[in-house]
Amino acid sequence: MARFLLIVTLSFFSLRLCFAGDVFSFSSELKDSETLVSNRSTFRFGFFSPVNSTGRYAGIWFNKISTPPAVVWVANRDSPINDSSGVIVISKDGNLVIQDGHGRVHWSTYVSQPVAANTTYARLLNTGNLVLQGISNSGDKILWESFQNPQNAFLPTMIVSTDSKTGRSLKLGSWKTRSDPSPGRYSAGVIPLPFPELAIWKDDLMVWRSGPWNGQYFIGLPEMNFGVNLYEFTLDNNNQGSVSMSYTNHDALFHFFLDSEGYVVEKHWNEGKQEWMTGILFPSNCDIYGKCGQFASCQSRLDPPCKCIRGFEPRSHAEWSRGNWTRGCVRKKPLQCERRDNNGSREGDGFVRLIKMKVPNNPQRYKVSEQDCPESCLKNCSCTAYTYGQGMGCLLWSGNLIDMQQYLGSGVPLYIRLAGSELSKYQYPHFHKTTV
Ligand SMILES: *[C@@H]1O[C@H](CO)[C@@H](O)[C@H](O)[C@H]1NC(C)=O
Ligand SMILES: *[C@@H]1O[C@H](CO)[C@@H](O)[C@H](O)[C@H]1NC(C)=O
Ligand SMILES: *[C@@H]1O[C@H](CO)[C@@H](O)[C@H](O)[C@H]1NC(C)=O
Ligand SMILES: *[C@@H]1O[C@H](CO)[C@@H](O)[C@H](O)[C@H]1NC(C)=O
Ligand SMILES: *[C@@H]1O[C@H](CO)[C@@H](O)[C@H](O)[C@H]1NC(C)=O
Ligand SMILES: *[C@@H]1O[C@H](CO)[C@@H](O)[C@H](O)[C@H]1NC(C)=O
Ligand SMILES: *[C@@H]1O[C@H](CO)[C@@H](O)[C@H](O)[C@H]1NC(C)=O
Repeated sequence: MARFLLIVTLSFFSLRLCFAGDVFSFSSELKDSETLVSNRSTFRFGFFSPVNSTGRYAGIWFNKISTPPAVVWVANRDSPINDSSGVIVISKDGNLVIQDGHGRVHWSTYVSQPVAANTTYARLLNTGNLVLQGISNSGDKILWESFQNPQNAFLPTMIVSTDSKTGRSLKLGSWKTRSDPSPGRYSAGVIPLPFPELAIWKDDLMVWRSGPWNGQYFIGLPEMNFGVNLYEFTLDNNNQGSVSMSYTNHDALFHFFLDSEGYVVEKHWNEGKQEWMTGILFPSNCDIYGKCGQFASCQSRLDPPCKCIRGFEPRSHAEWSRGNWTRGCVRKKPLQCERRDNNGSREGDGFVRLIKMKVPNNPQRYKVSEQDCPESCLKNCSCTAYTYGQGMGCLLWSGNLIDMQQYLGSGVPLYIRLAGSELSKYQYPHFHKTTV
């Protein structure tokens, strides 16, 4: 019996190992039990089943960690194979294809340009990128790559991007559940203008934003604010309205992950403990987009967390006191510039200064100096707030202010426009910046 087991184990391993290479071409096929391993053995490509699922999917996972496999990308995510008859092949037209024992195609790279089977090959790179390459005299070229089709894992050197001109974007997309890799409701990506921000959407509704990038970190991600660029993020914001983001990390087993509940989780493998160390990137209840409604700010350590900003009161005191903040706050006194009886504007409008803020959504950038920034706001009656910051310059907001948060340690000052009479009520001189 022991002998029999030993033989079975050996043959199992020899099957697994018969594809130790990272390249795969027309003449070969990968069966359900076989896998491709990247050159430095970081990633593996082959068939797996997610937890609590019997479906067979072709995917990429961290080679070292197999129970359960930490999957970073799935080919046939919509179309599992229900037995172990699946194979991964290069089809006659040169595409990389997943098919079952009946020859039914469950997934393909669907590269449209006509290629022949013997002119392409697939390779699993050390970065975790699976590429389909075309052989040509002028050097091999990439016809398709998994990094251009991101799913729930954001690996070092991968790029997410948005081009506001073409509308084309590369976003992460969650799995439906931990047992079902088909597309879920959450996506995550970058917003280009005027300042790059990260955002998460549920269907098409924004549920989180990072606040603008100030050149070093996102101001709504205080944990990144250590003076050093923890993950070595780089953000490429060319002024044509396109933005792309990538990061590097020297730890090969580090990555970010958009889970099926819409959280971005930071994961790295602890070799000593043999387990994933995880952290949710924005764990505070105030990180829910627009939680307190308009003209209100959220402080996670307060109970209740929502507070109207100075000069504003709840739109409905009854709803507000019940803890329903959705309709936010309204101005107590109209701005001087809005008043019909504006009569030489003796009092004028001024600003109240809020400190350590995550600034509201939808800023506009003004190319003026720090001194001229408040004046630029006062000149336009629809301007409701401004800030001036290192790496950001002059930012103005108009209309409703949404998704503000006050931090203990990080954040930037935000100047909210109020009628002069509101400022005098708090005994601050007119036209002066005041502090709360
Ligand atoms: C990895 O790739 C390098 C460069 O192509 C090659 O020299 C090396 O032999 C490869 N190692 C393995 C294990 O395939
Ligand atoms: C798998 O199923 C078991 C039993 O139903 C359940 O307790 C567990 O939470 C499930 N795991 C996942 C990841 O869904
Ligand atoms: C597997 O799926 C095929 C269709 O793709 C179906 O005909 C077959 O009955 C299924 N087998 C099992 C065991 O569910
Ligand atoms: C590719 O296949 C075609 C037809 O099967 C053959 O004529 C050609 O020589 C092959 N090319 C290579 C590089 O093997
Ligand atoms: C909160 O108030 C809004 C607007 O009045 C209402 O539509 C919503 O149902 C309320 N939510 C709760 C949980 O009461
Ligand atoms: C305008 O100001 C003058 C003098 O300050 C005052 O007498 C007059 O009532 C004001 N008009 C309005 C419409 O407020
Ligand atoms: C005032 O601001 C609004 C909103 O930003 C803008 O549409 C409008 O053109 C501005 N008006 C002037 C006179 O600058």
